[in-house]
Amino acid sequence: MTEEAPQGVDPHIPNAARMYDYFLGGKDNFKADRDLGDMVLSVLPEVREGTRENRAMIGRVVQYLCDQGITQFLDLGSGLPAQENVHEVVLGRTPDARVVYVDNDPVVAAHGRALLANPNRVAMVLGDMRRPEEILSDPAVRALLDFDRPVAVLMMFILHLIPEEDEPHRFVAAYRDALAPGSYLALSHVSNDVATERVMKVSEFYKQANAAFTPRPGEEIGAFFGDFELIPPGLVNGLGPHGWPFDPDHPLPIDEDFARMAYAGIGRKP
Ligand SMILES: C[S@@+](CC[C@H](N)C(=O)[O-])C[C@H]1O[C@@H](n2cnc3c(N)ncnc32)[C@H](O)[C@@H]1O
Repeated sequence: MTEEAPQGVDPHIPNAARMYDYFLGGKDNFKADRDLGDMVLSVLPEVREGTRENRAMIGRVVQYLCDQGITQFLDLGSGLPAQENVHEVVLGRTPDARVVYVDNDPVVAAHGRALLANPNRVAMVLGDMRRPEEILSDPAVRALLDFDRPVAVLMMFILHLIPEEDEPHRFVAAYRDALAPGSYLALSHVSNDVATERVMKVSEFYKQANAAFTPRPGEEIGAFFGDFELIPPGLVNGLGPHGWPFDPDHPLPIDEDFARMAYAGIGRKP
């Protein structure tokens, strides 16, 4: 992205989507995003590796879901296009599948739309996931996804950008309720169970950004699954080789705090 911002975008307010892009080594970010990103990295240098590991985990999660016969995906808080995007993994395995991305950031939506070559299979919707009724009735969502059949809803590295006052447990339940039996919810979420002081310092930094960084304890992250059945090995506390699906034979990395900084899991609607 050039330093000239598109209309309606304030390049001076650090933006969570563009900071994430910066952490991933992308180019869709402005100086304000990089400056705050550098402050985050000064406290939690592991963030760069953590974001990359999250992306790798998304690939594993989506492959698992394809293997279960899932052909419909709703990716909420999808982020700027990166390597190995969900639709690329999905369509690579299941060519007749459908993927709808939702993000509330206009820059993300514009970049996403520019990349999507197959409107019969993939759509990018500009929308706020905190309003499930709107998302689930959106014409572009309805055009591609049939909610009478199983759908996989992805909420990867997004719910920790939603503060308590936005009632994330309430609106996540609304998505769960709208799904047919055999549907899945997959999520990854930064935790404050480890490195608590450093993680909370990052929350302070994000007050300058357009999103509130709200890491949660594992127990609260697990509650997002409601009565969905967790797929073994369950809610996994780890990233990288310790991310979902946890490989018990893999030795713990030297920095155990880093490995434990996020949780991820997949739940299935009974
Ligand atoms: C950290 S990125 C994660 C991207 C991707 N899911 C991943 O795990 O790589 C979070 C994304 O959620 C988006 N986002 C934040 N709040 C949102 C909301 N209320 N509704 C939809 N998207 C939101 C941001 O714009 C950003 O692109």
